[in-house]
Amino acid sequence: MSQNPYRQDFPVFRNGKYRYMDSAATAQRPDSVIAAEKEFYESMNANPLRGLYELSVMATQAYEEARRAVSGLIGAEPSEIIFTRNATESLNLVAYSYGLTFLHEGDEILTTVMEHHSNMLPWRMVAERTGAVVKYLKPLKDGTIEDSELEEKLTGKTKLVAIGHVSNVLGCENPVRRIADMAHDTGAVVVVDAAQSVPHLKTDVKELGADFLAFSGHKLMGPFGIGVLYGRRDLLEKMPPFLRGGEMIESVTLEGQTWAELPHKFEAGTVNAAGAYGLKAAIEYLNRVGYDNIRRIEDELTGMLMDVLTEYPYVHIQGSEDPSKHNGIVSFTIDGVHPHDISSILDGSGINVRAGHHCAEPLMKHLGVQSTARASLYLYNDEEDVRALSEAIPGIRRVMGL
Ligand code: ALA
Repeated sequence: MSQNPYRQDFPVFRNGKYRYMDSAATAQRPDSVIAAEKEFYESMNANPLRGLYELSVMATQAYEEARRAVSGLIGAEPSEIIFTRNATESLNLVAYSYGLTFLHEGDEILTTVMEHHSNMLPWRMVAERTGAVVKYLKPLKDGTIEDSELEEKLTGKTKLVAIGHVSNVLGCENPVRRIADMAHDTGAVVVVDAAQSVPHLKTDVKELGADFLAFSGHKLMGPFGIGVLYGRRDLLEKMPPFLRGGEMIESVTLEGQTWAELPHKFEAGTVNAAGAYGLKAAIEYLNRVGYDNIRRIEDELTGMLMDVLTEYPYVHIQGSEDPSKHNGIVSFTIDGVHPHDISSILDGSGINVRAGHHCAEPLMKHLGVQSTARASLYLYNDEEDVRALSEAIPGIRRVMGL
């Protein structure tokens, strides 16, 4: 794969300045997504779900079309799709609404030490407020969660399992289906943080066994500020609203109120219809490219990158030695160089990688590192990106006087 045919669809690359490898933080947007959001504001902008005039009806239709596109992408019903700001808000919604209502003192929440803080801190809040206990699965250094860990820590007391589908640091795919089957046997619900998987892997909520699943639009080339929560209908039905206000009610009197039907019960206030419409365009683009192509590009480039990096004795890659288990994410350290310096020095050559703890501090501790540099690839990356990064590595050490 010398020429990546998709790269030209992304305006940010047209000046030839950037070698962008930070898609796990946020993806770049193709023309069609930028055009869709503009189209919304230019030709259908009104407050959706409220107005009875044509413009507002068009805004509502655009918003609900987007919901159908999301439900089609992950195998859910439209009424099970709640639009939020991002995956973090989606996970907090489940914690505040489901967690605080249905968890009690002595119950156990099971998660892992490799979670993004967004899939850890909300559950700690639930534990603090209800008296439930959070337990952590500890993976091997390559991210593998052993059966013995699960058998020991998933017990009759476990009422909720919160698991990332793909780690934002190691790139490993967790065995969500197996964990969900075990959790369901003990009567627990399963919350899946799919922020790093939906953009890269075909995801079906039923095949995964997810009761709740969260992801962000911006990591799959959609606009910022639009996220998704899938929830199993029977669970959403019995949950109280997270936020209260306009458009999430059926009726209000001074004595009380009744809530709107799903999914509107969970969408208080004016919604981000333009963002949702942009997300629909992103899903259409993703479907045109196809998950098979995404996988092929990511695996090929990840293999190339890992091959070259492992030739440098002072570079250490976190996670599996098998590139196909990285889902395009390669976290690494360089002896004697702080990851922040790696990122800053690379930036001088237009190479963009993230450095730090990646909002996964407990995982850093578990891996025995303070932080890492992370290259994360997506469908628009090409061999030139990988070559530029690989060739820049010795220069980083030189700049640091090593
Ligand atoms: N969660 C995003 C990342 O891993 C921001 O970079």
